[in-house]
Amino acid sequence: MNDWQGGDLAQDTNEVFSALYDDFNYRYQNTQWTGRLSERAKAVGLNGTRLLDVACGTGLSAIPMLDRGWSVTACDISEKMIRIAKEKVGDRVRCEQADMRELPTFGSFDLVWAINDPLNYLLSEEELQAALVGMKRNLASEGVLLFDLNTLATYRTFFAEVCEVKARGRHIIWTGHTQPEAVRPGTCAEASVEEVGKPASAHVHRQRHYPEATVMETLQVAGLRCVEALGVSEPDGRLSTPIDEDDHRKMVYICKAM
Ligand SMILES: C[S@@+](CC[C@H](N)C(=O)[O-])C[C@H]1O[C@@H](n2cnc3c(N)ncnc32)[C@H](O)[C@@H]1O
Repeated sequence: MNDWQGGDLAQDTNEVFSALYDDFNYRYQNTQWTGRLSERAKAVGLNGTRLLDVACGTGLSAIPMLDRGWSVTACDISEKMIRIAKEKVGDRVRCEQADMRELPTFGSFDLVWAINDPLNYLLSEEELQAALVGMKRNLASEGVLLFDLNTLATYRTFFAEVCEVKARGRHIIWTGHTQPEAVRPGTCAEASVEEVGKPASAHVHRQRHYPEATVMETLQVAGLRCVEALGVSEPDGRLSTPIDEDDHRKMVYICKAM
C-alpha cells in the first residue's frame, strides 16, 4: 500500500461502524435518494445499467439499484461492511474488498458512484486524486461518475452536535467534536460514535472538507470534467444550483471523462 498522508483511519472506523451502520441510518431514504441521483445522471447523458458502487458499505445504495434492474459491482475498504452487503445481496452483486485510492479495474461501467460520504474520508488531495483516477479507469467511454462531499455547513452542525438514534432496540450516540467557528475550507473534522452500554463499539470518524475549486482542479488533473455540481438541501434531499456551502448539506458532482 502507498504511504498515504491520511485516510487509513477510515478502514478501522468502518470495520467497527459496520455493526451499527444500518441501525444508525434506519430513517435514510435510500430508494428515493438513489432514484433522484440516477435520474439526474440520466439528464446529463447516462445511458446503460452497469453500476460500480464504490465504498458500498452495507449495500444500502446498491440494493435499490438492483431492484431497478441494474447490474451492480460493489466494493468497500471494510471487510465487515462487504460481508454484511454480501449477506443481503448474495450472488446478485459482485462484492469485493478494495481501497478506492488503489481501485482495481473491475470492468467498464455506465455509472460509477461513491455516495453518502466516502470521499470525505480521504484526508489529502493526493488521496482524492488517486480515487478519482481509479474511478475514471472504470468508466465506459460515455460513462458518468457521481460522488458527494460534505459542505462547510455540515461540518459546522452535524460535526459539532450530539445526535442520538434509537432504533431496533439500540441506542447510538454520535458526538461531534468540532468547534463551528474553527471550520474553514479544507478543514478536517471529527466525531465519535458509540452504542450506549457497548464500550467496544466506540470509534472516531475523521472527515475532510473539499472546497468546490479544489474538487474542480483535482478532477481536471484526473482527466475528468464536471458536467453538473449541485447542492443538497435538508431535510428533503432536494438538488439545486449553485452550491451554497452555508446552506446546502452536501455537494453532488456529476462528471465525465475529458
Ligand atoms: C458512510 S458509508 C456509505 C456507504 C454506502 N455508499 C451507502 O450509500 O450507504 C462510507 C463508506 O466508505 C467506505 N470507505 C471509506 N474510505 C474508503 C476507501 N479508501 N476505499 C473504499 N471504501 C472506503 C467505508 O468503509 C464506508 O463503508
